[in-house]
Parts: sequence; structure tokens; C-alpha cells
Amino acid sequence: MVMLSIDRLAVENLEHGCVSDNEHPRMSFSTSSDVPGERIAQATLSVNGWTHTGTEQIAIPYQGEPLQPFTVYPVTLEVTDASGNHASAATTFETGRLGTPWKGSWISDPNYHFTAKKVSPTPMVFRKRLAPKQQHIKRARLYATAMGIYEFSIDGHRVGDQYFVPGFTSYATNLQYQTYDVTDLFKADGDVDENGTHTLMATVAGGWAVGSFVFTRKNRISADRQALLAELRLDFEDGTSETIATDESWEVCESGPYRMADIYDGETYDATMELGPDGQHGTQWHPAAVETLRHSPSITADYGSPVRAHEIFDPVSRTKGPDGETIYDMGQNFAGVVRLHIRKAHQGQRIIVRHAEILNTKGGLNTTFLRTAKATATYTCVDGEQTYMPHFTYMGFRYVSIEGIDPADIDVEGMALYSDLRRIGDFECSDARLNQLQDNIVWGAKSNLMDIPTDCPQRDERMGWTGDIAVFAPIACANFDMERFLEKWLRDVKAEQHRGGGIPNTVPAQGYGFPATMPTMAIDWWGDACVLVPWVLYQANGDATVLETMYPVMKKYVKACRFWAGLVGFGRQRYIWHTPSSLHFGDWVAPDVPKMSQWQQRSKWTATASLNNTSRTLAKVAHVLGHQEDADRYNALADKVADAYCTLLSDGKGRMKSEFQTAYVLPLYLHMFPRRLQATAAANLARLVKSNGYRIGTGFPGTPYILFALADNGQVDTAYRMLLNTSCPSWLYEVKMGATTIWERWDGLDENGECPIGDDGTDLMISYNHYASGAVGDFMYRRIAGIEPIEAGYRRFAVHPVPGGGLTYAQAQFTTPYGTIHVEWHIDEADAETSGENANNEHQQQFTIELDVPMGTSALVTLPDESSRNAESGHHRFSCGLTDETAEEITEQATDAVPAAAATQPENQQPRD
Ligand code: BGC
Repeated sequence: MVMLSIDRLAVENLEHGCVSDNEHPRMSFSTSSDVPGERIAQATLSVNGWTHTGTEQIAIPYQGEPLQPFTVYPVTLEVTDASGNHASAATTFETGRLGTPWKGSWISDPNYHFTAKKVSPTPMVFRKRLAPKQQHIKRARLYATAMGIYEFSIDGHRVGDQYFVPGFTSYATNLQYQTYDVTDLFKADGDVDENGTHTLMATVAGGWAVGSFVFTRKNRISADRQALLAELRLDFEDGTSETIATDESWEVCESGPYRMADIYDGETYDATMELGPDGQHGTQWHPAAVETLRHSPSITADYGSPVRAHEIFDPVSRTKGPDGETIYDMGQNFAGVVRLHIRKAHQGQRIIVRHAEILNTKGGLNTTFLRTAKATATYTCVDGEQTYMPHFTYMGFRYVSIEGIDPADIDVEGMALYSDLRRIGDFECSDARLNQLQDNIVWGAKSNLMDIPTDCPQRDERMGWTGDIAVFAPIACANFDMERFLEKWLRDVKAEQHRGGGIPNTVPAQGYGFPATMPTMAIDWWGDACVLVPWVLYQANGDATVLETMYPVMKKYVKACRFWAGLVGFGRQRYIWHTPSSLHFGDWVAPDVPKMSQWQQRSKWTATASLNNTSRTLAKVAHVLGHQEDADRYNALADKVADAYCTLLSDGKGRMKSEFQTAYVLPLYLHMFPRRLQATAAANLARLVKSNGYRIGTGFPGTPYILFALADNGQVDTAYRMLLNTSCPSWLYEVKMGATTIWERWDGLDENGECPIGDDGTDLMISYNHYASGAVGDFMYRRIAGIEPIEAGYRRFAVHPVPGGGLTYAQAQFTTPYGTIHVEWHIDEADAETSGENANNEHQQQFTIELDVPMGTSALVTLPDESSRNAESGHHRFSCGLTDETAEEITEQATDAVPAAAATQPENQQPRD
């Protein structure tokens, strides 16, 4: 039977549970059909009496009557395909406050004066005892936010399953609140006393807003002490309602079980101080007072991807450390916490859990590289059996040491915490080491997508470094649906842009001042995130809203870059970005030069290429948004910068005057060299790579693109040799050394498994969970599997695998907004019959590819013999001899052969004339 089905219907990119303050929530859907080439003839969305009919599928904004706050709206979708089949789907979304003023006030503890430096405040506990005016509750919603990070309970039951709410935002401008459906908690009779009195309690720790943050360990960055804002709305069966909000009738104390909680230092929990479900064990309750905040951010229903608990790890080994401590190896480096199941303990017994990414030579934890982060969980037990996991901190670790309990009395688990992101992509091939690399890249992402994109999860940073996500965004978007996560972060990028156009190096800057001296300064590649990240997101999801929102930011930023670049020199020199290298990061962490200052000295090359890249990308954005004059202007700027780079920094014949890998990679990848010089420049890069033993010599800006720079310009073999190299520095060296994530420094461990880097002037900047150089994963999707968008959202995409390196098989699947693309290719020994025997009787191999093209999309498939054809939606199988000229389609489905040159190529493959 012919089937049309609706596979996904989402509001604000959530299939379920969307609560939004967007007055025009966006709806998207995907469909599938077993009829090849099937199309949607008509799709009708209906919400609140408004209907939208058309064939679009992505980000259709609600345009009906104004939505009312606190309301659940059903959404229905009816789809008819070109063959006349029908399908329907339904979901709901709920509006948040939509600007409704909060009934209550911010409250805090008027007696708590937090003045200590470099530490976090003692967690506050707020309590409200309430007896609803009626028992028949139909619906109960709790709306809550805090300065600090909070967790609510009702009658002793935890509310919600998120961690670190309200999340990390630019608190001066943007603050999220959460909405909890607590109807069931009010209906459960459990611990309610005979008067029907319920107890609301909230613990508020310092988090990022009040606690210590940034390696300088500043605290009170956004508020002097913790504060809470909450509103409980009860709707009764009889149609009446009641609202209970934070005010002076709430109580507060600092004598709850959470004795210390700090993003870097960990958590101290004393179970002997637990307050009980209604807080009756608390002795120091006193009235809360209305608090005046330093900032008045807009407070919006959460719009990101909240942190939740994910994988649980059982230790793979248990050993004794040099000081008698028990060491557990979780088998995976990750960000999260431990969960302790204590079988037997006595009141007052103290268990100390320390965390580290690597062991030292004596078999104990190596915590040197955590710098000031104590990363310790301390738990004081009560009698008997109990469970504990920290809730207000996280650690980046693989190993833990435990003291204070007999190992026989405790079970230890690792619990990964990270933003709730839909996994949409996977890559696998015949080389197990590359599969491990893919896994390490995914874990690098999971460990650093912690409500904001961080650099690392373990030491005293964990900051929103812009340069790291600027290079990692493409592979993050291949593995995960990053829409909500990145849109949230970009709101803060916008909020924090300096008046002069520069973007802080970390967003939210949250206490990190650089470049304090020059507030208008634009920093190449790091600031570029404001242009590159929205563009990558748009390519992935096809929703131009992010481009519209960020367009003014991008323009201002590129203007600032242009200003700084043009400050020095005359003529062409004005397009070379010369500002002092100490203000840039340059070829950050390039392993071929040992010193930080040498990385930075390469900023003339990286910054100039960055200006080309941002202005070229901005031209594409302007084009999408219909600002053609702007597009022309930015293209002209990009051309001038490219010309200056090639004329002044190279010999004009494709050879750089100063040769290092990144100096070639950037102009090659960005098509800055004239077309006639591309191959020569690539050959020069290949020569450099070869003379470096096929090892990596690039820093942050070059690493993501080096394999493309080679493979796209006739150096496929060199690209594969580099990818598959196992000597240090290389991606597979880390794999060979047992890495389960991506390292910050390629030589993080020597062949003996020890860290050879001492105090090298980088302030012990050695992390084993730094995702940036995992950007290479993009090459695995886009070149090995060969999937690349031609039109945003993959409405049209290329499939052009570039086999090599002895791989005999690769497959990737990738869920686009329209459905899932699946590509799988094999190389087999051709048997004489199917290959048609070749005339010279050469040994021939057969390349076979199978692919699924989602409904509503089409693919331009290019086989290794360079023959191209269109593939409409459905399943396809093509093959060609690897030394033969022609591809042979085995499928019965109709496809139109197209000459490769005439077909639209992915945007990054268009050379400059
Ligand atoms: C961070 C990086 C970051 C860099 C820039 C480091 O400390 O961990 O990943 O981009 O600083 O200077």
C-alpha cells in the first residue's frame, strides 16, 4: 500500500513540551513516502483558527490572532501529496507568560551578606507553605527563575529534570524562566499534612551569576547574592484560580544540606542537614525580603536546550591509589557528576570524591591541569543506605578517587550531563580508528555543549569561547540538531556586541574582560563566530530567521574588522590585517611552533583570511535576505582582501613567502587564490605536509579545513595520509593513545601515557576534552561520505564521496529538516561480468553507493569517476568501476544525468576566477 506519513511536527523545533513566549512560534514538519520522487501538493497547518496552506515545511511562523498567555494551543497538520495521498498529524504548544507581569517580586535573604572573594555563596533555601483555597486542582504550573541556579521541590519531590536552570545567559540582558507542569505533584496526597498544606522549597546556588567564575575566580558578577522569582498558578475544577508568588511571606535559610556549590570547585552536601519534605528539620528559617536586582533583563520562557542527565557509566576498573584512595576508571572522559549508591554508612561519615581526566605516574589522579578548580564532591552520610549525586556543579573527568568509605560499601556510577540535543547524524567506515575518532568528536561535543558552547569542561574556564564554536559549529550541526542551542547563544552574542562592533572573546563574557583595553576591537576567527555560526545554522536547518536577527550584528562586526585591518598601510596593504598580534589568537595551539606568541604572530595571515571569509559569508547572507547591494559590496571587499593576501603574502605564483600549513590552508579552502594557482598552492601545501611527516601543523583556524584544502585541490592522497597518520601530532595519535575525547594539545600524552608539557607559558593550558580540533569530523561527513548542502536545509544536496586511504566502506546518516539522508558506499573487487571486463584486463574495483533521499529533496550524485546525476527522493543504488569512465545506475528509478559542470555545486566549492 502506498504510504504518506508525517514523521515530525515541531513547534519552535520541539515535538513535545514546547512552552514559548514567541508571539509567532515557528512550525516545521517532515514527511516520507514510499513513492520515489513524491512531492507535497499541499500542506495545511491550523492553529487557533488560523490556517496556513502551502508547500513550505520549515519555520512557518504563526500569523493568526494574538496568542493568549498560559494557554495550550493544539496544532494540526494535513498533508496531501502529488499522488493524492493524505496524512495528518497533531501536536500542541503552550504559551508562556507572553509579557504578563510577574505577580510576585524577586526575593532574597536580607541577612546574607556575601563578601568572600573567589568562592561561591552558600546555597540558599527558600520555603513557602501553602494550603490551596480548594483541593480540586485541575492544572498547576510553576514559573520560576533565579539569580544563581535553582532547583524546586514540592512536598519533597523534585520539580523538573533539568540541571543548572535558569541556564547561562547574558544576565544583564537575557534571563530565562522555566515552566513546570506540577499538576500531578499537587494531586498526589503523599506528604501533604492533614490541612492540605503543601511545601514549596527552592535551593538556589551561586551558579554563574553569583558564584565564582572565569579563571580569575571573580564572583558576584551579575548579582550580590542569590535571588528567586517564582509564581505558582493553580486552576481549580470549578473554573476559579489562585496564584502564589514569591514575596515576604516566603522563608529563607542557608542551613540546608547543600553546604557549598561552585561550578569549578564542586559540591559539599551534608545529608544530616536535610530539611525534610516540608522543611520542618530546618531551624534557621526567617523571612525572605524583596530584593532589588542590579540588572533588569528581559525574562523569557526558556528557548534553548536545557541540560539533562544522559548516559550512565559503570566503572571499567577499580584500583588502589598511592595514598590508599580507591580510583575508579569510568572508561570515558565526559562532563557530569558521579552517582553514589551507598549501601552502608554511619551518621557523619564523610566521603570525598575527586575527579580528573588523567592519572599521574604513580596511578593517582593528575589534577594539575584543573588549575584552581577543586572539582571535588564531599558527602556527609546519615545512617544506612543512601544515594547522592551533585546537582549544582559538574566536572570534566574520566577518573574519580574516593576516600572515606570501604569500596565494598559503595557503588559508583558516572552520569553525563549536557544540553538536551537531538542526535541527528552518524558516521561509520571500515577503519575502526576513524570510528573511534567520530565517537571522540561526539563526546567532545556532549561534554562542551553545556547550555552554552564551552571550551572545556574541567579546568577553571568552561567559558563560551567564541573561536572554539566558530570552528566547531559545522560538525556540531552534523551530529546534533543545534537550532535551539545556538539560537539561544546567538541572542547573547547580539546582546554583548560592543558598540564598536567587536564581539567579546567569551559569550556570555560573564566577568571575562578581554580585550578590556580596546572595547571596540574585533578579533579574527573568535569574533567571526557572529557571522559563521548563524550561517552554518542556516545551512543546516534552512530557517533564515537567524540570519535576519544577526544581520545587523554581522554588518557591524565586519565593519569593525575592516576598520582595524585598514588602519595600517597604503593601497593593497590596507586589506592586510596588521593589528598587533598580541591582540589576536592567530594560529592558536599550532603544534609546529612551541610558543603562544608564535601562534599569535601568525595573525597577519589568519586575520586577513578571516576578513575574506566573514565578508564573503556576509555577502551570501545579504543575498539570501535580498540585500543585493550589500552583497555586491561585501563580495567586492572579499575580492580585494583575497587579492591582497595572494599578492602580498605569496609570490604571486602560489607559493607563500612565509610557509606554514595554515598560511596555505585558509586561502585554499576559501578560494582566495586565483583558480589557476589553486593546484600549485595545494601542491606546495602537500609538500609542507609531507616534509612534516604528514603530521598536523595547524592551529584552530587551519585545522578544520586542511583536509578540504588538500583533497579539493588534487591532493586526496595527502589528505588521507594526514587523516590516518598515527604519529604525534595527529588525530589518530590521540586515538592510538586511548583518547575518548578530543584534546586541546596534540601532544597531551607522550607514548608512555605521560603529559610531556610542563609550564610552557600557557598557564597549564592542557585539556583532554576540547572539541575545537574535532572539527575534522566535517571532512568525514562532507568528503568521505560526501554529503553536503547545495540549498540551505538540504532541500537540494550533493552526494560526492571522495574515497581514499584504503577505506572499503563508509556510511553516514543525517537527519535534515526534510527527513533522513542515508549514504553508504562499498568498494569491492569487481567481478568480470558486472564490470564488463576492462579492455586492458586491469585489476578493477567496483564502487557501489546506496542512498536514501528524503521526500521533498533531491540530490546531485557524483561518483568517483566524476559522472553526475540527479536523484529524486527515494532509494538509489549506483555503481562505477573505480578506474572506469562511466557510472552505471542499477536502480530502476528514473534519474536525469547532468553534466557535473552545469549542475549547481555546494557553495564552498566555487573557485575564484
Ligand atoms: C581556551 C580556548 C580559547 C583560547 C583563546 C583558552 O584558554 O581554552 O579554547 O579559545 O583560550 O585564547
